[in-house]
Amino acid sequence: MEILTTPQELREQCLDWRVAGLTVALVPTMGCYHLGHQSLMRHAGELARRLVVSLFVNPAQFGPGEDLDIYPKNVERDTAIAEACGADVLFTPSPDVMYAPDHATWVDVPEMAKKLCGQSRPAHFRGVCTVVLKLFLLSQADVAVFGNKDWQQQAIIRRMARDLNMPIRIETRPIAREADGLALSSRNIFLAPEERAQALEIQRGLQHAQELVNHGEKDAVLLQKAVLRCWTERLPLGRLDYLVAVHPETLEPVICVEAPTLMACAVYLGKVRLIDNILLYP
Ligand code: PAF
Repeated sequence: MEILTTPQELREQCLDWRVAGLTVALVPTMGCYHLGHQSLMRHAGELARRLVVSLFVNPAQFGPGEDLDIYPKNVERDTAIAEACGADVLFTPSPDVMYAPDHATWVDVPEMAKKLCGQSRPAHFRGVCTVVLKLFLLSQADVAVFGNKDWQQQAIIRRMARDLNMPIRIETRPIAREADGLALSSRNIFLAPEERAQALEIQRGLQHAQELVNHGEKDAVLLQKAVLRCWTERLPLGRLDYLVAVHPETLEPVICVEAPTLMACAVYLGKVRLIDNILLYP
Protein backbone atom coordinates (compact mmCIF):
# COMPACT_ATOMS: atom_id res chain seq x y z
CA MET A 1 0.00 0.00 0.00
CA GLU A 2 1.25 3.45 -0.90
CA ILE A 3 0.67 6.46 1.30
CA LEU A 4 0.00 9.61 -0.71
CA THR A 5 -0.34 13.03 0.85
CA THR A 6 -0.95 15.53 -1.94
CA PRO A 7 -3.90 15.93 -4.31
CA GLN A 8 -1.54 15.86 -7.27
CA GLU A 9 -0.02 12.50 -6.24
CA LEU A 10 -3.48 10.99 -5.90
CA ARG A 11 -4.64 12.38 -9.23
CA GLU A 12 -1.54 11.06 -11.03
CA GLN A 13 -1.75 7.60 -9.47
CA CYS A 14 -5.44 7.24 -10.30
CA LEU A 15 -4.87 8.51 -13.84
CA ASP A 16 -2.13 5.89 -14.34
CA TRP A 17 -4.56 3.19 -13.23
CA ARG A 18 -7.25 4.51 -15.54
CA VAL A 19 -4.85 4.55 -18.50
CA ALA A 20 -3.96 0.94 -17.65
CA GLY A 21 -7.68 0.08 -17.77
CA LEU A 22 -8.01 -0.54 -14.03
CA THR A 23 -11.22 0.40 -12.23
CA VAL A 24 -10.99 2.34 -8.96
CA ALA A 25 -13.06 2.20 -5.77
CA LEU A 26 -12.94 4.95 -3.14
CA VAL A 27 -13.73 4.85 0.57
CA PRO A 28 -13.65 8.36 2.10
CA THR A 29 -12.99 8.27 5.86
CA MET A 30 -11.91 10.43 8.77
CA GLY A 31 -9.93 7.59 10.40
CA CYS A 32 -10.06 5.94 13.82
CA TYR A 33 -11.18 2.77 12.14
CA HIS A 34 -13.67 0.32 13.60
CA LEU A 35 -15.29 -2.74 12.05
CA GLY A 36 -17.73 -0.52 10.14
CA HIS A 37 -14.90 1.14 8.22
CA GLN A 38 -13.33 -2.23 7.61
CA SER A 39 -16.53 -3.55 6.10
CA LEU A 40 -16.65 -0.52 3.75
CA MET A 41 -13.06 -1.10 2.67
CA ARG A 42 -13.41 -4.84 2.14
CA HIS A 43 -16.61 -4.38 0.18
CA ALA A 44 -15.10 -1.60 -1.93
CA GLY A 45 -12.10 -3.80 -2.67
CA GLU A 46 -14.44 -6.32 -4.29
CA LEU A 47 -16.01 -3.72 -6.56
CA ALA A 48 -12.92 -2.51 -8.45
CA ARG A 49 -9.36 -3.49 -9.32
CA ARG A 50 -7.80 -0.73 -7.20
CA LEU A 51 -8.87 0.64 -3.81
CA VAL A 52 -8.22 4.16 -2.53
CA VAL A 53 -8.97 4.93 1.11
CA SER A 54 -8.82 8.58 2.12
CA LEU A 55 -8.09 9.51 5.71
CA PHE A 56 -8.78 13.17 6.25
CA VAL A 57 -10.43 14.86 9.22
CA ASN A 58 -12.15 17.50 7.14
CA PRO A 59 -12.24 20.80 9.07
CA ALA A 60 -14.87 22.20 6.71
CA GLN A 61 -17.56 19.88 8.05
CA PHE A 62 -17.11 20.82 11.73
CA GLY A 63 -18.96 23.84 13.11
CA PRO A 64 -17.73 26.21 15.81
CA GLY A 65 -17.62 24.44 19.19
CA GLU A 66 -17.80 20.95 17.62
CA ASP A 67 -15.23 18.24 18.28
CA LEU A 68 -12.69 18.92 15.48
CA ASP A 69 -9.81 19.47 17.93
CA ILE A 70 -10.46 16.31 19.90
CA TYR A 71 -11.60 14.11 16.99
CA PRO A 72 -9.88 10.76 17.73
CA LYS A 73 -6.78 10.03 15.67
CA ASN A 74 -4.61 6.94 15.37
CA VAL A 75 -2.87 7.12 12.01
CA GLU A 76 -0.45 4.26 12.66
CA ARG A 77 -3.21 1.83 13.57
CA ASP A 78 -5.42 3.10 10.73
CA THR A 79 -2.61 2.61 8.22
CA ALA A 80 -2.19 -1.03 9.27
CA ILE A 81 -5.95 -1.62 9.08
CA ALA A 82 -6.33 0.00 5.65
CA GLU A 83 -3.50 -2.15 4.34
CA ALA A 84 -4.97 -5.31 5.86
CA CYS A 85 -8.32 -4.44 4.24
CA GLY A 86 -6.69 -4.34 0.81
CA ALA A 87 -6.19 -0.62 0.17
CA ASP A 88 -3.74 0.12 -2.64
CA VAL A 89 -3.46 3.76 -1.63
CA LEU A 90 -4.07 5.53 1.66
CA PHE A 91 -4.56 9.22 0.94
CA THR A 92 -3.71 11.30 4.03
CA PRO A 93 -3.54 14.95 3.05
CA SER A 94 -3.15 17.83 5.49
CA PRO A 95 -5.85 20.54 5.60
CA ASP A 96 -3.59 23.09 3.92
CA VAL A 97 -3.09 20.96 0.80
CA MET A 98 -6.82 20.28 0.56
CA TYR A 99 -7.94 23.87 1.12
CA ALA A 100 -6.08 26.93 -0.20
CA PRO A 101 -6.01 29.79 2.31
CA ASP A 102 -8.45 31.65 0.05
CA HIS A 103 -10.64 28.60 -0.72
CA ALA A 104 -13.97 30.04 -1.79
CA THR A 105 -15.93 27.31 -3.61
CA TRP A 106 -18.54 25.18 -1.89
CA VAL A 107 -20.90 22.45 -2.98
CA ASP A 108 -24.24 22.36 -1.27
CA VAL A 109 -27.49 20.43 -1.52
CA PRO A 110 -29.30 22.93 0.68
CA GLU A 111 -32.82 21.53 0.93
CA MET A 112 -31.62 18.09 2.02
CA ALA A 113 -28.73 19.50 4.07
CA LYS A 114 -30.91 21.59 6.35
CA LYS A 115 -33.02 18.65 7.53
CA LEU A 116 -32.19 16.10 10.29
CA CYS A 117 -28.55 16.64 11.36
CA GLY A 118 -28.48 19.89 9.40
CA GLN A 119 -30.75 21.54 11.96
CA SER A 120 -28.02 21.50 14.59
CA ARG A 121 -25.05 21.32 12.17
CA PRO A 122 -25.96 23.97 9.56
CA ALA A 123 -22.72 23.97 7.50
CA HIS A 124 -21.88 20.29 8.00
CA PHE A 125 -23.10 18.81 4.72
CA ARG A 126 -21.70 21.69 2.69
CA GLY A 127 -18.29 20.72 4.10
CA VAL A 128 -18.94 17.02 3.46
CA CYS A 129 -20.10 17.56 -0.14
CA THR A 130 -17.18 19.83 -0.93
CA VAL A 131 -14.53 17.41 0.31
CA VAL A 132 -16.26 14.38 -1.19
CA LEU A 133 -16.50 16.10 -4.57
CA LYS A 134 -12.77 16.91 -4.37
CA LEU A 135 -12.05 13.24 -3.64
CA PHE A 136 -14.30 12.09 -6.50
CA LEU A 137 -12.52 14.45 -8.91
CA LEU A 138 -9.03 13.53 -7.76
CA SER A 139 -9.61 9.78 -7.79
CA GLN A 140 -11.99 9.64 -10.78
CA ALA A 141 -13.29 6.58 -8.96
CA ASP A 142 -15.85 4.30 -10.60
CA VAL A 143 -17.51 3.55 -7.28
CA ALA A 144 -17.48 5.04 -3.78
CA VAL A 145 -18.68 3.27 -0.64
CA PHE A 146 -20.34 4.92 2.37
CA GLY A 147 -21.93 3.61 5.57
CA ASN A 148 -25.67 3.65 6.25
CA LYS A 149 -25.18 5.02 9.75
CA ASP A 150 -24.72 8.42 8.13
CA TRP A 151 -27.87 7.87 6.08
CA GLN A 152 -28.44 11.55 5.41
CA GLN A 153 -24.85 11.90 4.22
CA GLN A 154 -25.14 9.11 1.66
CA ALA A 155 -28.55 10.39 0.47
CA ILE A 156 -27.11 13.87 -0.07
CA ILE A 157 -24.00 12.53 -1.83
CA ARG A 158 -26.18 10.43 -4.13
CA ARG A 159 -28.21 13.52 -5.00
CA MET A 160 -25.06 15.58 -5.58
CA ALA A 161 -23.60 12.88 -7.87
CA ARG A 162 -26.86 12.59 -9.79
CA ASP A 163 -27.44 16.33 -10.14
CA LEU A 164 -23.88 16.98 -11.34
CA ASN A 165 -23.87 13.95 -13.70
CA MET A 166 -20.84 12.48 -11.97
CA PRO A 167 -19.73 9.19 -13.52
CA ILE A 168 -19.54 7.41 -10.18
CA ARG A 169 -21.67 4.75 -8.49
CA ILE A 170 -22.51 5.23 -4.82
CA GLU A 171 -22.77 2.05 -2.76
CA THR A 172 -23.65 1.71 0.90
CA ARG A 173 -23.12 -0.87 3.62
CA PRO A 174 -25.33 -1.74 6.61
CA ILE A 175 -24.66 -0.16 10.01
CA ALA A 176 -22.02 -2.11 11.95
CA ARG A 177 -23.03 -2.56 15.58
CA GLU A 178 -21.60 -3.64 18.93
CA ALA A 179 -22.94 -6.96 20.22
CA ASP A 180 -25.60 -5.09 22.24
CA GLY A 181 -26.78 -3.09 19.23
CA LEU A 182 -25.01 0.26 19.68
CA ALA A 183 -23.99 1.59 16.27
CA LEU A 184 -20.19 1.65 15.95
CA SER A 185 -18.80 5.17 15.93
CA SER A 186 -15.36 6.68 16.40
CA ARG A 187 -16.99 8.90 19.04
CA ASN A 188 -18.20 5.98 21.24
CA ILE A 189 -14.85 6.03 23.08
CA PHE A 190 -15.87 9.35 24.63
CA LEU A 191 -18.91 7.84 26.39
CA ALA A 192 -18.69 7.56 30.18
CA PRO A 193 -19.51 4.02 31.44
CA GLU A 194 -23.04 4.97 32.56
CA GLU A 195 -23.67 6.72 29.22
CA ARG A 196 -22.37 3.71 27.31
CA ALA A 197 -24.69 1.46 29.33
CA GLN A 198 -27.70 3.51 28.24
CA ALA A 199 -26.55 4.14 24.65
CA LEU A 200 -27.83 0.75 23.49
CA GLU A 201 -31.37 1.98 24.19
CA ILE A 202 -31.15 4.22 21.14
CA GLN A 203 -31.31 1.24 18.82
CA ARG A 204 -33.82 -0.57 21.06
CA GLY A 205 -36.20 2.38 20.80
CA LEU A 206 -35.94 2.35 17.01
CA GLN A 207 -36.56 -1.39 16.94
CA HIS A 208 -39.64 -0.84 19.08
CA ALA A 209 -41.01 1.34 16.27
CA GLN A 210 -40.59 -1.56 13.82
CA GLU A 211 -42.39 -3.89 16.27
CA LEU A 212 -45.33 -1.46 16.40
CA VAL A 213 -45.34 -1.26 12.59
CA ASN A 214 -45.42 -5.08 12.53
CA HIS A 215 -48.53 -4.88 14.70
CA GLY A 216 -50.21 -2.51 12.25
CA GLU A 217 -49.28 0.95 13.55
CA LYS A 218 -48.59 3.26 10.60
CA ASP A 219 -48.97 6.74 12.06
CA ALA A 220 -45.49 8.30 12.05
CA VAL A 221 -46.27 10.70 14.90
CA LEU A 222 -47.54 7.90 17.14
CA LEU A 223 -44.49 5.80 16.30
CA GLN A 224 -42.19 8.67 17.23
CA LYS A 225 -44.06 9.23 20.48
CA ALA A 226 -43.69 5.54 21.35
CA VAL A 227 -39.93 5.68 20.74
CA LEU A 228 -39.62 8.83 22.85
CA ARG A 229 -41.55 7.11 25.68
CA CYS A 230 -39.06 4.23 25.61
CA TRP A 231 -36.15 6.63 25.75
CA THR A 232 -37.67 8.67 28.59
CA GLU A 233 -37.86 5.48 30.67
CA ARG A 234 -34.62 3.78 29.69
CA LEU A 235 -32.34 6.52 28.41
CA PRO A 236 -32.67 9.23 31.08
CA LEU A 237 -29.14 10.52 30.44
CA GLY A 238 -29.99 11.11 26.78
CA ARG A 239 -30.87 14.52 25.38
CA LEU A 240 -32.78 14.40 22.13
CA ASP A 241 -31.49 16.34 19.15
CA TYR A 242 -34.05 14.96 16.71
CA LEU A 243 -36.17 11.94 15.88
CA VAL A 244 -37.91 11.91 12.51
CA ALA A 245 -39.67 9.59 10.09
CA VAL A 246 -38.76 10.56 6.53
CA HIS A 247 -38.65 9.31 2.97
CA PRO A 248 -35.31 7.48 2.63
CA GLU A 249 -34.29 9.25 -0.58
CA THR A 250 -35.79 12.73 -0.34
CA LEU A 251 -35.66 13.00 3.48
CA GLU A 252 -39.12 14.63 3.33
CA PRO A 253 -41.30 13.94 6.40
CA VAL A 254 -43.59 10.91 6.18
CA ILE A 255 -47.04 10.92 7.78
CA CYS A 256 -47.92 7.27 7.33
CA VAL A 257 -45.54 4.30 7.07
CA GLU A 258 -46.91 2.73 3.90
CA ALA A 259 -43.55 2.20 2.19
CA PRO A 260 -40.02 1.74 3.56
CA THR A 261 -39.51 4.77 5.80
CA LEU A 262 -36.35 6.02 7.45
CA MET A 263 -36.62 6.66 11.16
CA ALA A 264 -33.48 8.60 12.08
CA CYS A 265 -32.29 10.21 15.26
CA ALA A 266 -29.49 12.06 17.00
CA VAL A 267 -29.16 11.86 20.77
CA TYR A 268 -26.64 13.53 23.03
CA LEU A 269 -25.17 11.49 25.85
CA GLY A 270 -23.07 13.94 27.81
CA LYS A 271 -21.11 15.82 25.15
CA VAL A 272 -21.22 12.93 22.69
CA ARG A 273 -23.74 13.21 19.87
CA LEU A 274 -24.79 9.79 18.59
CA ILE A 275 -26.77 9.17 15.43
CA ASP A 276 -28.65 6.04 14.43
CA ASN A 277 -31.45 5.01 12.13
CA ILE A 278 -33.68 2.18 11.04
CA LEU A 279 -35.56 1.52 7.82
CA LEU A 280 -39.11 0.75 8.88
CA TYR A 281 -40.80 -1.80 6.63
CA PRO A 282 -44.64 -1.87 6.60
O1 PAF B 1 -18.38 10.01 6.99
C1 PAF B 1 -17.26 10.55 7.13
O2 PAF B 1 -16.36 10.01 7.77
C2 PAF B 1 -17.02 11.92 6.49
O3 PAF B 1 -18.15 12.72 6.54
C3 PAF B 1 -16.48 11.82 5.06
C4 PAF B 1 -17.48 11.17 4.12
C5 PAF B 1 -15.18 11.03 5.05
C6 PAF B 1 -16.19 13.22 4.50
O4 PAF B 1 -15.24 13.88 5.26
